[in-house]
Amino acid sequence: MKKISIVGAGNTGATAAHWLAERELANVVLLDVVEGMPQGKGLDLLEAMPIIGRDAKVVGTNDYADTKDSDIVIITAGIARKPGMSRDDLLKTNAEIVGKAATETLKYSPNAIFIVLTNPLDTMAYLVMKKTACPAPASSVRLGFWTPPVCAPSWQWNQASAWKMSNATFWADTATRWFR
Ligand SMILES: NC(=O)c1ccc[n+]([C@@H]2O[C@H](COP(=O)([O-])OP(=O)(O)OC[C@H]3O[C@@H](n4cnc5c(N)ncnc54)[C@H](O)[C@@H]3O)[C@@H](O)[C@H]2O)c1
Repeated sequence: MKKISIVGAGNTGATAAHWLAERELANVVLLDVVEGMPQGKGLDLLEAMPIIGRDAKVVGTNDYADTKDSDIVIITAGIARKPGMSRDDLLKTNAEIVGKAATETLKYSPNAIFIVLTNPLDTMAYLVMKKTACPAPASSVRLGFWTPPVCAPSWQWNQASAWKMSNATFWADTATRWFR
């Protein structure tokens, strides 16, 4: 089965893990900076799999090494704007978080496709595209927006791409087309 790592085990990350595992689309690694939290969420999902007759493995972790050999990396880590915080402050903070998530996961999964969710989305997707840049000729495909399924075969698994998506359902549908 394919492997998908999700960085950020909050609302969107945990929801994505749920969708992917429930549809048995991939084994899922859920990573977060908060200790113990992704492990708990991962265990809850894992223990639910036999009840719904699914065989996906879900693991929660705080260690990027566990994301090794992922086919897809989904980045949802970030913070929401807090009182007194400007959009520029948010941009800087989330850029640091997303930048680290991209470089750390790329270390362990150099061939992964990247899906970015963290806001401000366009900027974060562009940042991941830059952080995951690899030498030509693979550099011709760096940043993917939604492409009709007919174009999908030309997007090779061995080309790390930053994909901009809108929600968890959309990712799962996309993954379904590619995996089956
Ligand atoms: N693109 C979209 O359609 C879309 C939809 C919803 C949310 N979002 C964006 O996605 C992001 C996440 O939203 P959410 O509702 O899941 O937020 P959330 O607060 O529930 O989850 C974010 C998670 O990121 C984790 N995190 C923070 N710093 C981290 C780090 N350095 N390493 C690993 N994990 C870290 C937090 O601990 C938290 O669990 C936000 O930027 C939000 O605006 C985008």
